[in-house]
Amino acid sequence: MGDMVQEYLKIAVEVAKKAGKRVKTDFYKNKNIDVKENFADLVTETDHAVEELIFNRILEKFPDHKLIGEETVSAGGHCELTDDPTWIVDPIDGTTNFVHGVPHTCISIGMAINKQPVLGVVNAPILGEMYTAVKGQGAFCNGTKISVSTISELNRSVVILEGGTSRVPEILKTKVGNIKAVIENCHGIRCYGSAAINMCYVARGSHEAYMEHGIHVWDIAAGVVILEEAGGVVLDPSGGELDLMNRRVLAGCSRTVAEQLSAITQNIDMERD
Ligand code: IPD
Ligand code: CA
Repeated sequence: MGDMVQEYLKIAVEVAKKAGKRVKTDFYKNKNIDVKENFADLVTETDHAVEELIFNRILEKFPDHKLIGEETVSAGGHCELTDDPTWIVDPIDGTTNFVHGVPHTCISIGMAINKQPVLGVVNAPILGEMYTAVKGQGAFCNGTKISVSTISELNRSVVILEGGTSRVPEILKTKVGNIKAVIENCHGIRCYGSAAINMCYVARGSHEAYMEHGIHVWDIAAGVVILEEAGGVVLDPSGGELDLMNRRVLAGCSRTVAEQLSAITQNIDMERD
């Protein structure tokens, strides 16, 4: 399987670069914006075009592979993870940033085989950072090996938290409570507006943890491999095993830091992907 995954990586990097050029060009232009679940859940013409570009190339090379993509699912497409090789794509992670001209926006391409993530490519074209990883082969940023922070105490950590797109009052109430609890127990919190970039930031060692309720499988599929290959852990915020389709994530530079974060925060049940 190793050789095949290398071949998949080659195509993922190639198409992520092409998609990155399109995102970078469109980033500086006026955008056609639409909303999805609510007024804060945005999508643009570029999201659709980039997903199509990526899917076309993957299907050209691997016609029997399965695809899960944010915009296809939003348009009523399937979001079913089977044992088949499945590409899990977010054409633009950080669409709100893309719309507002904030540079933290990226293309996230993951792949799972037997439901296990095996490959991750995250291209952040405005930042000029391309993160790549294959299971068992380490994680890289622009070709240089990356690894997680060695800090093991939450009270010496920088933690990434996100508001997300839900505007449901009970969910927001719990999130606000969690933000307070985390601020009280760490060096500081940050929020970059892209789950994939957040996970790469933990992977490269500049942040110790990231937690969010409400993400989707396409936001984290690539990041899971990049973070684990950099030496980190990805759990459910309850402290249990990660369920890719369960719409919540707790990423840590180590299990110790992740568990300390889990212990001081409340979990939120989300509707599954
Ligand atoms: C969003 C980003 C953001 C997170 C949201 C996601 P999108 O993805 O990852 O950081 O807080 O929950 O929906 O909509 O930009 O692909
Ligand atoms: Ca997206």
